Amino acid sequence: MAILEIRHVSKFFGGLSANSDVSFELEQGMIMGLIGPNGAGKTTLFNCITGYYPPSKGEVVFNGKTMNGLQPDKVCKLGMARTWQKVRPLAKMSVVDNVMVGALCRTNSLKVAREMAMEQVRVVRLEHRTDFLAGGLPIGERKKLEVARVLATQPKLLLLDEVMGGLNPAESEEIIRLILDIRTLGITQMVIEHDMKAIMRISDRIVVLSSGEKLAEGSPDEIVSNPDVVAAYLGSE
Ligand SMILES: Nc1ncnc2c1ncn2[C@@H]1O[C@H](COP(=O)(O)OP(=O)(O)OP(=O)(O)O)[C@@H](O)[C@H]1O
Ligand SMILES: [Mg+2]
Repeated sequence: MAILEIRHVSKFFGGLSANSDVSFELEQGMIMGLIGPNGAGKTTLFNCITGYYPPSKGEVVFNGKTMNGLQPDKVCKLGMARTWQKVRPLAKMSVVDNVMVGALCRTNSLKVAREMAMEQVRVVRLEHRTDFLAGGLPIGERKKLEVARVLATQPKLLLLDEVMGGLNPAESEEIIRLILDIRTLGITQMVIEHDMKAIMRISDRIVVLSSGEKLAEGSPDEIVSNPDVVAAYLGSE
């Protein structure tokens, strides 16, 4: 069964179509890569899916329910969580307290939230940083913290927006491992990423956006050999 259906979603900003009639489905448990040149509309689509922007047209259906018109906190309660392209931890709070903010979406008890947060701190392998102030973390660990915070909301679907952006190859490798670990937890993921090698390795399927439209969809092998996709990338460089 599809956990998420994007049905003919468009998003207009004045005269600009950031998303234009985009449709695709995500099957439960899969990793979907979402790629496309800068400005293709990837982050806008995440915003439309997770309630930060209402789509101008079309429908987002999650677990059979339409999400249109729901605010991000309601969408999160229903089991969808996203990270941000620009990570923004609560700098003056500790790592575990940052993750507790996510857990408090599920419980009012600080004690339970702390236990839930610690579990996710371990999943992302930041135990050694539990009491460290988030603002002082290097970028690779800030990205992991961001993932721990959204995992603590106990999502069924996780949307990761350039979680490897700005990382060196060793740090990216750790994030790839983490994404594959998250898959074993049964959580469905949609991953925006510019690192082609990484996206080809982790994705079961890939959707390509270009100028707001869906240019292609298929397996990683189908996508790399698609001449339209190659042209869209070469054209953007
Ligand atoms: N709030 C907004 N108001 C006006 N235009 C916007 C807004 N958000 C995005 N856009 C425009 O919509 C288009 C798509 O932007 P978006 O951020 O979704 O692209 P992207 O694929 O995520 O790009 P990148 O790879 O650079 O992150 C761009 O032309 C952008 O300038
Ligand atoms: Mg973006």
